[in-house]
Amino acid sequence: MAVEKLENTLPAATPPGPSMWGSWQVVRRWDKDRIGPIEEAFQEYGDFVFLNLPFMNLYLARDPDTVEDALVKRHRDFHKDRYYFFLKLVLGHGLLTSEDDYHLKQRRMLQPSFKRDRIRQYGQAMIEESAAISHDWRDGDTIDIYPEMMRLALNIVARTLFNSDVAGDTARVARALDTIMDMDTRFLHPLGPLMARLPLPGNQPLWDAVADLDEILYRMIAEHRAAGDQGDMLSMLLEARDADDGSQMSDQQVRDEAITLFLAGHETTAIALTWTWYLLSQNPEVEQRFHAELDAALGDRDPQAEDFPRLPYTYRVFQESMRLYPPVYMIGREAVRPTEIGGYQIPKNGMVVVSQYATHHDPKYFPDPERFDPDRWLPEYAESRPKFSYYPFGGGQRLCIGEHFAWMEGVLALATVGRRWKMRLRPGHQVGLDPRITLRPLGGMPMVVHARSASPTQAASDATGGESPA
Ligand code: HEM
Repeated sequence: MAVEKLENTLPAATPPGPSMWGSWQVVRRWDKDRIGPIEEAFQEYGDFVFLNLPFMNLYLARDPDTVEDALVKRHRDFHKDRYYFFLKLVLGHGLLTSEDDYHLKQRRMLQPSFKRDRIRQYGQAMIEESAAISHDWRDGDTIDIYPEMMRLALNIVARTLFNSDVAGDTARVARALDTIMDMDTRFLHPLGPLMARLPLPGNQPLWDAVADLDEILYRMIAEHRAAGDQGDMLSMLLEARDADDGSQMSDQQVRDEAITLFLAGHETTAIALTWTWYLLSQNPEVEQRFHAELDAALGDRDPQAEDFPRLPYTYRVFQESMRLYPPVYMIGREAVRPTEIGGYQIPKNGMVVVSQYATHHDPKYFPDPERFDPDRWLPEYAESRPKFSYYPFGGGQRLCIGEHFAWMEGVLALATVGRRWKMRLRPGHQVGLDPRITLRPLGGMPMVVHARSASPTQAASDATGGESPA
């Protein structure tokens, strides 16, 4: 078996958990449902659970202190988990998949592309693309909002990353990534690394998709090198220099970073927006306050990037949506040496899974956790909670580099589309979860769209106004 032989010596002290048979039952169900069995394990055994499996020591954590230990305080003792091999096949050594000193060096090189003032410049593209997406909607149309939000986020990332109006290329990159991500269930299990290396016919679509990506990206890199600065992220990657030794990235490094940003930068935001429209449709009072804020702040114009601080309620709506439906709902880490988190020892190769979904639904931090209540994020409530009771963007060294980009994109897209439209779930549609690498909505999110006729004067008197979200 090509799976790395793992030490399976039990640590001196282990958190509570089921027997080996019970642990196997949790993992066996994981293929079909990556949330339910973990939730049940937490309910039965507490906040830190040990699953004793023949091929690995697996730990599940939802307690904020333990999460902070794994992601921040003891981060040097961990690498990404072994299932990242799948992403490495596609992303090479991009930011998401690299480790240690190399990761740090790359992170320093990329950081300037994500400074706040830089992101404000991307705001215009975010607004224009958001206005364009709903341009052809008609009052009363039924539209699956999930692929619409995917298209929106994809257009935004293509413009900000590649300055791309080459719709054909963007669509080809998206298709290749779709093919790859749809193969996750083929590889995300213990025999996955072995299967990926075998010349099986079922693997061919993966290699074809990677070859397609390479062809497009290397061509874009060559064109950008020839044309000079285009004001996009790809130009910044080509210009970036290491602060210590002044070195620049090779074409392959730029390719790996660009495809990483393309992949990491669209599905997550699209999912967050999809769930937000759903939650607004189910909570008319929240929706009313959201509209009131938009009408008061914007009247009958589209937002500008500068309006971002004037939309605090919209920000809280997006924040609360990512609490209930965190697009990245769990993060895996593997110990590279024996370590200790949450008061327990973790042996080398022990795998720790921290679950945003579980922490974000814990009534200890979020009373009545299923209730959609953006006011939980008013400073007087938010400040009393531990930092890692909410971590949709992860934390520590590996904190999402696109976090500010995502907040800006989410708030501006909600404001631009929400100013014109409100949505109602298609009658009879059963909403469900499809937890893959991200937390997709099962069967999409069909919505009936209704054109809004704003009444700014009335709205101004209802609006919350005043606070700054950032
Ligand atoms: C709502 C939107 C988003 C969510 C929920 C999200 C979530 C996350 C999370 C949880 C991680 C950490 C993974 C780990 O620790 O293993 C991460 C990393 C990352 N994200 Fe995001 N992300 C979002 C948007 C974006 C955007 C817009 C970009 C780029 C344009 C981006 C680029 C990245 C990259 C490159 C990393 C790896 C960072 C590193 O390891 O240094 N993300 N993201």
